Amino acid sequence: MNSQPTSREVLKLGVLISGGGSTLENLLAHLRDGRLRGAELRQVISSRGTVRGVELARAAGLPVTVIRRRDHADDGAFSAAITAVLAGAGVELALLAGFLCFWRIPARYAGRVLNIHPALLPRYGGRGFYGRHVHEAVLAAGETESGCTVHLADNQYDHGPIVAQARVPVRPDDTAETLAERVGIAERELYPQVIQQVADRGLAWLRTFR
Ligand code: GRF
Repeated sequence: MNSQPTSREVLKLGVLISGGGSTLENLLAHLRDGRLRGAELRQVISSRGTVRGVELARAAGLPVTVIRRRDHADDGAFSAAITAVLAGAGVELALLAGFLCFWRIPARYAGRVLNIHPALLPRYGGRGFYGRHVHEAVLAAGETESGCTVHLADNQYDHGPIVAQARVPVRPDDTAETLAERVGIAERELYPQVIQQVADRGLAWLRTFR
């Protein structure tokens, strides 16, 4: 018997980006070579038009929609535009992947939006904690450990139930760059692992995190 999931069972993903798209690139690689199964990428949304992530998505033949905050009157209109595109593409699980804008998550996507953050939340998260700022803060605090967090996103920055974390050591001679690289390796394993779990167990599994 064919054990492949039928198309009805395939988890439909949407990815939201703002920049380099390294998270998107990693997810695409996992989907392409079968390390991530039972899921398909239906839609990419970018809050910026001319970023590497958009080029990557187009080169992969994916539907990409650029939705810029400045083209919308307020957060509500911007958020509604995002929701409409995701819903129109049949996206069931939305993945924030270096998305730097505020999407007010509507009821229909509550509990269906994941984010990955390059630190061990709840520390070193929130507004302003993105990119190298996160790693600089971890180093400045003299932490001996950092890592990454996959969490359910709610309507506060870097906030919501934690689904999984991976830890990495902070070395005495680390710079923001060397630490970012080590955390990045952990991120590229953790995010696909969590998405695989959702594909295997169903979206209801995410409701077990509070
Ligand atoms: C990663 O540090 C991730 O944790 C954060 O955005 C960074 C990746 O950005 N959410 P990108 O995917 O290269 O645009």
